[in-house]
Amino acid sequence: MHIKIKKVGIVGSGTMGRGIAQVFALFDYPVILVDKEETILQEALNKVRSHTEPELWDKVSGHIETSTNFEKIKDCDLIIEAVFENMDVKKEIFVALNKVCKNDAIIATNTSGFSINKLAEAVENPSRFIGMHFMNPPKVIKLIEIIKGKKTSGKTLKIITDISKKIEKTPAVVNDSPGFVSNRLLFALIGEALQLLEKGVADKEDIDTVMKHGMNHPMGPIELADFIGLDICQNIMIYLHESLGEDKYKPTEMLNYLVKEGKLGRKSGEGFYAY
Ligand code: NAI
Repeated sequence: MHIKIKKVGIVGSGTMGRGIAQVFALFDYPVILVDKEETILQEALNKVRSHTEPELWDKVSGHIETSTNFEKIKDCDLIIEAVFENMDVKKEIFVALNKVCKNDAIIATNTSGFSINKLAEAVENPSRFIGMHFMNPPKVIKLIEIIKGKKTSGKTLKIITDISKKIEKTPAVVNDSPGFVSNRLLFALIGEALQLLEKGVADKEDIDTVMKHGMNHPMGPIELADFIGLDICQNIMIYLHESLGEDKYKPTEMLNYLVKEGKLGRKSGEGFYAY
């Protein structure tokens, strides 16, 4: 038996939810985009429009229906949760989804770090629950990190891998583990770069230059930390340090200081660099 994904529900219309909606709409999937308030949904649509080629807007907007009513999700075959990175908020969403969605609908989460096994505790029939970790911005970045929980079925994994390819993404399947593969590798690099900076081995420009021009990375690790947001980096590093007990993930004093000062990187106008 193979369910076909005909309609996609997305909960949360922030940076990721609206971007994921745009991707599915570009590939002609009808999408229901749900959030708490009409104004948030309107703002989300405006943002999607500003990142869509004008000639594609009719198609994209024609495929995205917005709603503040969870009931609208009831006929979706795949629901992707993309609300705040808060365990309680996410679990509340899954409890609400249990009530409205079809028994065999797949429920995916875009969490960037929470344990899929832990989140699955709130899902009825966790064999249909999986991590579908899109990167920002979803339209541009090819990777979808697919996270298999202990109870995720082979059928769920196959359907999600197949649909990821249909929307022209490149899936990588990983088991549930703190930070999955993406953040564990990324923050090993960023963490080491921040240690080098703090220990005075090189200044930030030179550290970034080594990775940009030596390893062909499009951005240096310190520039990248500013781009991600230093508060988000700090949270992820605290989580990885606590979960894995490895000092390479421990936020450095300089990172903690900048966050405390509200210097959060690109979004606040200053971080390690000034913008
Ligand atoms: P965001 O803060 O931009 O958007 C979250 C949205 O969820 C908001 O529009 C909010 O109104 C909505 N929301 C909150 N509670 C809700 C509820 N009960 N019902 C309906 N909507 C609700 O967050 P963002 O950045 O889009 O992140 C979403 C998820 O994606 C998080 O788990 C995050 O860790 C993950 N992620 C974020 C990335 C990023 O670069 N921003 C990259 C990859 C994953």
